[in-house]
Formats: sequence, C-alpha cells, structure tokens
Amino acid sequence: MKSATQIIISSESFYLSKILYLKTLKPKINIHETAFVTASFRMGDVALSKDSYAYLWSERIIEAHAKSYSKAVSSYEPYAHCLRNRYFYDTINKLMAQNNIEVLINFGCGFSMYPYLLDNSLHYIEIDKADVVIHKKEMTSKWEKEGKLPARNISYLEADFNLVSQDELFEQIMALKNGKKSFILLEGVLFFLGKDDTKKLFELFGKLQEPDEYLGSVSFLPQLEKQLVFKKLIDYVEENLEKNERFQYQTVPNEFYINLKGYELIDHQDTLSLSAHYDPKRHLPKEEVLNEHMYLLKKTSIQ
Ligand SMILES: C[S@@+](CC[C@H](N)C(=O)[O-])C[C@H]1O[C@@H](n2cnc3c(N)ncnc32)[C@H](O)[C@@H]1O
Repeated sequence: MKSATQIIISSESFYLSKILYLKTLKPKINIHETAFVTASFRMGDVALSKDSYAYLWSERIIEAHAKSYSKAVSSYEPYAHCLRNRYFYDTINKLMAQNNIEVLINFGCGFSMYPYLLDNSLHYIEIDKADVVIHKKEMTSKWEKEGKLPARNISYLEADFNLVSQDELFEQIMALKNGKKSFILLEGVLFFLGKDDTKKLFELFGKLQEPDEYLGSVSFLPQLEKQLVFKKLIDYVEENLEKNERFQYQTVPNEFYINLKGYELIDHQDTLSLSAHYDPKRHLPKEEVLNEHMYLLKKTSIQ
C-alpha cells in the first residue's frame, strides 16, 4: 500500500519537496494532503460523524499532522469535522429517501466516504486533483475486493478547479449525470480557492443542474478573519502548507449564497448550530471554534 507521503511527494513535486525537506527537515503539507487530515478528524467520533470507514485512511504521519494542526489552531476541529459530515450525511439521506437525488457529485471529494456510507442505489461522481483521485480509486477498489468496503457505483474524475476553462469537466460530468437528479457537494474546498475560480465553479454548477436539484457548500464567513482562531489557521497554513499562487485564504459572505443566480437558499447551519442540534449538552467556547458555515441551496431556474 502506498503511504500518504509517497503519493504527495510524487513526480514533479518530488525534487522540490526533497529540497524543502533537506532544508527544513520538515516537509510541507500539500493542499491535497489536507484530505487525509479531515478523514482523520472524522475518525474521532464515528457515532457522530457516521464515517465508519475513515479509519481506512489512517496512518501515523497523518495522525501526526492532524494532532499538530488541532494543537496549533483549535482542539475543536475534529469535532467540527464530525458535525459537518453528519449534517451532509443526514441531509443527503433525507433528500434521497424523498426521491429527490439520484447522483451525488462531490467536488474536492478528498477521502470522504459518502459513497460507502449512503445508499447503494445512488450513483457517485467523485472529483478531485489527480493525486487524490488516483489514490482513492486504487485503494477503494482494493478494499472493495478485500470485502472491507461494500461495492458501489462510483465514477472518478480528475480535475483542477484552478484551470482557466472547466468546459472539459462540464462535458465529462454531463455524460455521467445523464439527466439524473443531482446533489452537488463542495465541502472543505473554498478556503483553498481564489474568487475567480470560485465564480467559475458556481457557474459550472448552474450549467450542470436543472430546477429542483440541490447544492451543498461550506465556507467561512469574512467576520471570522478578525478572530484569533482564524489568525492561528493562517499562521499554521503559512508555516506548514505548500500553497499555490491562487491561494487567498478565501472567506465567503452569506450574501454570496443568498444572491446566487438560479438558486434558493433553503438551509443554513454552522458548527455552533449543528453542535446545539446533535450534542445539545456540550458547551463550545465560541472564540476557540473555527466556525464553518454549511449552505443548502435548491436550483430554481435554468441558466
Ligand atoms: C480539506 S480537503 C476536503 C476534502 C473533503 N471534501 C472532505 O471534506 O473531507 C480539500 C480538498 O479540496 C481539493 N482541492 C483543493 N484545491 C483544488 C483544486 N484547485 N482542484 C481540485 N481539487 C482541489 C483537495 O485536493 C482536497 O481533496
């Protein structure tokens, strides 16, 4: 089995990573490696997250990154990620039971395991950078063969949301979607994208979806930028993450979703409201929580 580090320090980035490693004795985390960290967080409370397969991605190096990140930024991050997974798990399950979804299209899917946690009858389209998709496809098909995962109908697409044109991705998804009712998911991704790429991505969603289809998105509010916990996140990212030139530490105002053309905002939650719902007895010190916002939108008109 390839380790996370083998995947990350691959091909063209190999020499750069090696130089960095020799210089600092501390290799930086690549953007796609953050997906291992969020998987590790979901392992923290499986009863809450419902991600009973996150453990499959666990490795010592990942656990070390997850621990150092939680220590440096917020000890509530594992809990927040369990809540986020649970919210979309419950939301998608509910919409599916009402016959509102036939395909889940996960943009920046990382190592989230919705295809294995949700119903067999759904078609799943998993989209991420090539490193993630190649590794995920290889490992999940191995685990399916070994009986560690149930068989599922999954299509994998390699994509870079920083590309100038998303026309090819549009064609690929349309061929797979084939008129099915979709739920598009974008979680844990917008922080890593710039404004222009975000605009292009939401335009793509608008072109892919028909009225009454659903879109779930996750982002931080600009107000969070003033809080110490966000500053800690930036410091951690500056020190530990291998960033690209598009990286802008993106936050997104509520108005972006409220005014999104062709969509209606039908639910809006954040880490604090989800905690009050799923674990009402738990006290959360607001100032220490990297409060993420979850938006559920429904397509209203053809663009
Ligand atoms: C923090 S992880 C979140 C993964 C998953 N959605 C989850 O919640 O566990 C961020 C994901 O976004 C993907 N990503 C970031 N920038 C991207 C880009 N420009 N194109 C494609 N994927 C990107 C990364 O590869 C990574 O898998």
